Amino acid sequence: MRGRREHGVWSAVLGVACVAALVVGCRAGGDPAAEHAAQIEAGSEVYDTRCATCHEVEGGLGPRLSARALAGYETAARLVGYLRLTMPYGAAGTLSDDQYWSVVAYLAASRELARWEGRLEGREVRLSAVGNAENAEAGVP
Ligand code: HEC
Repeated sequence: MRGRREHGVWSAVLGVACVAALVVGCRAGGDPAAEHAAQIEAGSEVYDTRCATCHEVEGGLGPRLSARALAGYETAARLVGYLRLTMPYGAAGTLSDDQYWSVVAYLAASRELARWEGRLEGREVRLSAVGNAENAEAGVP
């Protein structure tokens, strides 16, 4: 009797461990294009909920986040570093690391400041013009 019961418990534990391994495996070895899109999508949500009230301007507190202004930070890592210390204004550092990188991925993609594969963090990604008309006009390198 007791033996069977323990067996049941161990089967359940093993089952959970297998599912966890699958989830971790999927994340680690995921499709770069899907991860790329997912990070930008996540960043767009962060932007809408934590940044847009001030930065979409018209009465907002912050400056417009133009391609030119963002390219001035030169690399994605520097922009993340700046944001972590200063934004959201009055609530600096309240996003997770993941959210800071995601919002920078969203900003870089939406302003055509860089091209990269997969997720953004851990890469030396320069922010500059990539065939963006506004960038060309502003003379961003
Ligand atoms: C409460 C309003 C507010 C919120 C919310 C906010 N910001 Fe800001 N942001 C500002 C203000 C004000 C400045 C100008 C700060 C300064 O000049 O010191 C600024 C400056 C910036 C700059 C520098 C722009 C430049 O021209 O160099 C960036 C980039 C930026 N914010 C990004 C963000 C992001 C990304 C978020 C969301 C995670 C965010 N901000 C949330 C008010 C806000």
